[in-house]
Amino acid sequence: MGSPRFLVTLPIPEKGMAALRAAGTVHVPADPLTPAQLRAACRSRDYDVVVAQLGDRFDAALLAEATLVGISNYAVGFDNVDVDAATAHRIVVGNTPGVLTDATADVAMLLILATARRAVEGDRLTRSGQWVGWRPELLLGHDVSGATLGLAGFGRIARATAARAVAFGMDVVFCSHPPAGRPLSDDDVAALPFPARQVSWAELVDTSDFLSLHVPLADGTHHLVDAAVLNAMKSTAILVNTARGSVVDEDALVAALRDGTLAGAGLDVYEHEPRLAPGLADLTNVVLLPHLGSATVRVRDRMAELCAANAIAMGSGQLPPHCVNPQAWQ
Ligand code: DGY
Repeated sequence: MGSPRFLVTLPIPEKGMAALRAAGTVHVPADPLTPAQLRAACRSRDYDVVVAQLGDRFDAALLAEATLVGISNYAVGFDNVDVDAATAHRIVVGNTPGVLTDATADVAMLLILATARRAVEGDRLTRSGQWVGWRPELLLGHDVSGATLGLAGFGRIARATAARAVAFGMDVVFCSHPPAGRPLSDDDVAALPFPARQVSWAELVDTSDFLSLHVPLADGTHHLVDAAVLNAMKSTAILVNTARGSVVDEDALVAALRDGTLAGAGLDVYEHEPRLAPGLADLTNVVLLPHLGSATVRVRDRMAELCAANAIAMGSGQLPPHCVNPQAWQ
């Protein structure tokens, strides 16, 4: 095997780029590739590994023609890759788990606080010149302490969010693998380093003052939060999404926020990024971030190191350290 040839669809932080350059040849297109250009590049025989971003879609048709040995995603999520098709074509897929847990949990907490305490409305008012000074009833929000935080999904990021929420005096309930649920044993719940109660998906939806989503996007979680779920939530509740946009039916969410079915939402991810559902940006009861969950200097550097290590291993015929489909390698 010669030295690996990497296609890097968008430059990643220099730590990762330097490692890739030291290990092989690196091509970064002058402009982001269109889906057709990505497909052509993947079947061109010019590259061994694509260092990919969430916006790069690797569907079954692309993967059937691809001449790659691997796709190293610069993300922990990998819903942009049809992993079954990749496995069938012996294309290894890598991701960057672990390093963005705290940063993403921080953003979940930020959205909980910002929605509850109307931080963005306050910022707008302060800048606008319309603020007339302290008033007894100016921009009253809701208490976070004493409120119930429901966690949909109970992986690393959910647990880090729970630890933060408990420190803010919130009561934490959770449902692992909603909607069906894959309950933790009583011993596992008792061993958690913070107090939390396990409930069904239905109870989580009914009882949460804040419902925070922490599930991967997959067939079973697409539109997990749909019109029926939004209707079942408390009308005073706030939805927080730092997972994937398509876990929520965004049109239904806009309708629910408009008609008062739901009090507010804090979103870092969207169904059709970077496009927003019509009407979402006009609402005042939402806080909208541009997918910043992992966006700290340190975390993005660590992601770049993991992503490069995965790509270099793939390009050298080795199992990458973080592989989501090891069966493809065997
Ligand atoms: C991920 O890693 O999946 C985030 O959404 C982006 O860092």
